[in-house]
Amino acid sequence: MKATTAKRAMITGITGQDGSYLAEMLLDKGYEVFGVVRRTSTETIERVNHIKDRLIFVQADLTDQTSVISAIDEVRPHEVYNLAAQSFVPTSWKQPILTGDVTALGVTRVLEAIRVVDKSIRMYQASSSEMFGKVVETPQTEQTPLYPRSPYGVAKCYGHYITVNYRESYGMYAVSGILFNHESPRRGLEFVTRKITDGVARIKLGTQDKLHLGNLDAKRDWGFAKDYVRAMWLMLQQDEPDDYVISSGQTHSVRDFCEAAFGHVGLDWQQHVVVDPRFHRPAEVSLLLGDHAKARAKLGWEPEVSFQSLVQLMVDADLERVQQSLDHGVRA
Ligand code: NAP
Ligand code: GDD
Repeated sequence: MKATTAKRAMITGITGQDGSYLAEMLLDKGYEVFGVVRRTSTETIERVNHIKDRLIFVQADLTDQTSVISAIDEVRPHEVYNLAAQSFVPTSWKQPILTGDVTALGVTRVLEAIRVVDKSIRMYQASSSEMFGKVVETPQTEQTPLYPRSPYGVAKCYGHYITVNYRESYGMYAVSGILFNHESPRRGLEFVTRKITDGVARIKLGTQDKLHLGNLDAKRDWGFAKDYVRAMWLMLQQDEPDDYVISSGQTHSVRDFCEAAFGHVGLDWQQHVVVDPRFHRPAEVSLLLGDHAKARAKLGWEPEVSFQSLVQLMVDADLERVQQSLDHGVRA
């Protein structure tokens, strides 16, 4: 696997939203891209199906140390992007132990694999604004104290600090990107933005009438996933490893998102959205707003897609997908 001179990148979580955009970007830059996949009874490569012939898949699971060491030893990547996680916040209350195993300890397994195989491999850790939780200051920066509000948030805090610790203990080039919410047409259907845009498409095309949501007051700093994977790569190209907040610098409520998404197709959200307590969380993160001044100054990074454009491109993509299913006689 080490025959070519191209730079090699390994992505855990390549089947997820970010993994798919990052893989596309790295291929465009001339990297050889290795994607870590775990064994499942049905294929999960839908998001990278269009580039699968240009990728090399290696099997490993973040809960299995030996498999992670073997994968890194086999590939000998220059860069590892650790995007794998149990990433859905509500599931972290239902499966807190699994969430801790994958999202927290999984990070140590990747760092340990790098430490024993080759400490010069650079590593990106997917940290999260969910770590700020019940925020103690606004906007949130790299210096803002953490106050997680979910087992997922707690697990991400562990992943964040163990990355900093391996950097400081072993001199490894390991960095954390503290990314605020980022979305796209490839976002999982259970996350609120995609749930809304999918709902809008179905309602507009007449296959659904109501959309059941939880807390409409929650505010998030939403950006476009494609912009955010660019920041991940930039973080691994610097002279010195460091941690960065990546955000849009704007915050909007779930209600605002509904208004924009329904409004884009000429519908009144209030006629269709039903508040349903089933989607309320045991503890909520009420407000996230990130300050990406450090990333702008040191990485030259800026988001390119605005909130309005993000909402519109997601609604348009779902309209097209639902329409295509209907054209093929499948009720979407
Ligand atoms: P996602 O779509 O949920 O993808 C998660 C990925 O992790 C999938 O490829 C999944 O593989 C993989 N995975 C889960 N458990 C695994 C295990 N035990 N071993 C190996 N792989 C495993 O997440 P995303 O939105 O792309 O986010 C990428 C990363 O950024 C995650 O770590 C997330 O927590 C973090 N993050 C996301 C955001 C955001 O707004 N999107 C913000 C901050 C941080 P399967 O396909 O096999 O399930
Ligand atoms: N999922 C969901 N479904 N959320 C809802 C709903 C609903 O029906 N109704 C309201 N919400 C609210 C949630 O209570 C939350 O306050 C907000 O919408 C956003 O929820 P999600 O889209 O599920 O994302 P998240 O903010 O909890 O977590 C995402 O962003 C984190 C970064 O801050 C995930 O991608 C995490 O993996 C990521 O780390």
